[in-house]
Amino acid sequence: MEAKKAAAEKAVEYIRDGMVVGLGTGSTAYWAIQKLGTLVNNGLRITAVATSIQSEQLAKELGIPVRSIAEVDEIDVTIDGADEVDPEWNLIKGGGGALLREKIVASSSKELIIIVDESKQAQPLGSFPLPVEVVKFGCEHTQRKLSKLGCVPQLRMSDNQQPYMTDNGNYILDCHFGKIDAAKDLHIAINLIPGVVENGLFIDLATKVIVGYRDGSVREL
Ligand code: A5P
Repeated sequence: MEAKKAAAEKAVEYIRDGMVVGLGTGSTAYWAIQKLGTLVNNGLRITAVATSIQSEQLAKELGIPVRSIAEVDEIDVTIDGADEVDPEWNLIKGGGGALLREKIVASSSKELIIIVDESKQAQPLGSFPLPVEVVKFGCEHTQRKLSKLGCVPQLRMSDNQQPYMTDNGNYILDCHFGKIDAAKDLHIAINLIPGVVENGLFIDLATKVIVGYRDGSVREL
């Protein structure tokens, strides 16, 4: 917890009055939203755009003004977590299921600050199963096509034994690759499969990576 909080609070130092801020999703982004809430209550003026219903609710509870993405032309800075980060700052995201909105927000942002603890650093990517958001229709066929790319895709389930459903009403296939050598090629190949909405590879999107450590120290890559 200390590592995630330290990275998150360092990232929030980049937020200035008047900015439009993208709010990530997950247990690391949680700490950034908490810190932003404190600063807003102390007079910081920002407008936030959330990457999930969960983050939107948290932000609103904390008194952070939230707009829909349709209401803003551009996002100044987005702060978000990741499941894996490689030395080129390519990412796997979507462990929390929010990858589609996260990618739309990230690609509409001038800056994407990624906040992680040291356990998320990976070379190559792929130990963490790659989340792929797919539409329900024909998802068994989409799953078979994905497996031909060299992975074992598993339908993500919820605690109630029903398929997990994203904020967009889609399913997630967690694709176990083991290792991913050519992330950009894989990203393109996955998104060419009919039924795939988006995958959790974030290529060339991060502009800064902040790593937090258990002793509360941080390192900006
Ligand atoms: C949400 O869908 C994800 O992309 C998260 O950003 C990612 O899973 C990191 O989550 P934690 O900060 O909880 O590890």
